[in-house]
Amino acid sequence: MAFKTIIEPFKIKTVEPIRWTTREAREQHLERAHYNLFLLPADAILIDLLTDSGTAAMSTHQWAAMMEGDESYAGSRSFDHFRRVIRDIFGYRHVIPAHQGRAAERILFSVMCKPGEVVPNNTHFDTTRANIEFVGAEAVNLPIPEGKDPAHIHPFKGNMDVAALEQLIARVGPPRVPLVMLTITNNSGGGQPVSMENARAVSALCQQHGIPLYFDACRFAENAYFIKLREEGYANKTPKQIAQEMFALGDGCTMSAKKDGLANIGGFLCTNNDALAQQEENLLILTEGYPTYGGMAGRDLEAVAVGLEEALEEDYLKYRIASTGYLGRHISAEGVPIMQPPGGHAIYIDARAFLPHIPPASFPGVALGGALYLEGGIRSVEIGTLMFGQHAAMDLVRLAIPRRVYTQSHIDYVVEVILEVWKRRDEIRGLRLTYEAPFLRHFTARLEPVEVA
Ligand SMILES: Cc1ncc(COP(=O)(O)O)c(C=O)c1O
Repeated sequence: MAFKTIIEPFKIKTVEPIRWTTREAREQHLERAHYNLFLLPADAILIDLLTDSGTAAMSTHQWAAMMEGDESYAGSRSFDHFRRVIRDIFGYRHVIPAHQGRAAERILFSVMCKPGEVVPNNTHFDTTRANIEFVGAEAVNLPIPEGKDPAHIHPFKGNMDVAALEQLIARVGPPRVPLVMLTITNNSGGGQPVSMENARAVSALCQQHGIPLYFDACRFAENAYFIKLREEGYANKTPKQIAQEMFALGDGCTMSAKKDGLANIGGFLCTNNDALAQQEENLLILTEGYPTYGGMAGRDLEAVAVGLEEALEEDYLKYRIASTGYLGRHISAEGVPIMQPPGGHAIYIDARAFLPHIPPASFPGVALGGALYLEGGIRSVEIGTLMFGQHAAMDLVRLAIPRRVYTQSHIDYVVEVILEVWKRRDEIRGLRLTYEAPFLRHFTARLEPVEVA
């Protein structure tokens, strides 16, 4: 008998209390945080959907493996385990550990990019863009047109616009494109997957021009599961086989193991290029640590090694994708405009459509995030004008679901809060900046409400 209900494929052994606050207390917290949810103390939050990064609940197997962590400075046994698992799934020759995704990015771009060069991606994540710009290169987003329309339903909305990539390469010339990146799934573009067909086309074009292709692999397992569900010819393959096939199309990857590594910290950089790997390891030693730990403890290496394999388990992926879709379906059924179809790790509310009376320059995504916090203690994150400035094609509020952390009743509560805010959306006001940092301004920005005329 096949039952309809998809249950959490785990039972809970350790619990962490969460705290209620009053609306009055939340108003004070928000004002003190200058209307930036990053600046809130975590204890003032009931349901934290700020990020799915580093917030996963670890399994008994991961905790057990951590006890086996080998903390040797050089030649750690745990690094062998880490590298063995990564080579098996990702297939690249060199595995360079780093404490998180952006450390891998910084090393990759420092070694591969020069001022005046151009790095295309389906959509750069904020740290990816910032690290490219930091070395003087230009980060260019080339999503397919359907990816820019939140309401449009498309099975692989994370795809790269291959024709636009071809035009870009023709315009600037292959020598000015040191690498092409494909982000799987496309986080800033709505957590949408990239099809194998698209990855194949991008890879072929890169090969034709002698340009290396790198994956931003943070959510590779979720991407593989979407391919299994939606792309012809993949229904009978395992997520691991699909991931292996995709990575074989590229020359390397960056990875934040805080996502589909199911770990609280960790990451890595992979490449098949021996000369680059040597330079990357030298830089690693300078800033991250010795190449057999790269800024992580031996126990972290173990947690990632086990987590990467758990993230590819079908029961887990089935529950993961179903529970994200559950939140999306229940709010969109009541008219809340969301990025369609629901992505893998998050639901993205279209803040421009939710709050049409607030122009992008007055940060509708930040305003909506503040309203969700005031109403029910929920923390979300703006992915829009505050995060990307003039590069923002949309103003989205991302509700990222931490892996294996919340149950269906938590999500039912989130649905109720969103619908309450939806009813009173006309009362929400825009904001203006009072402080911004030169890079990644959304993390520390300060804002204040705009007075209504
Ligand atoms: C697509 C993508 N790339 C890179 C990163 C950076 O990873 P980290 O936060 O581990 O530095 C993230 C983090 O959210 C991401 O979503």
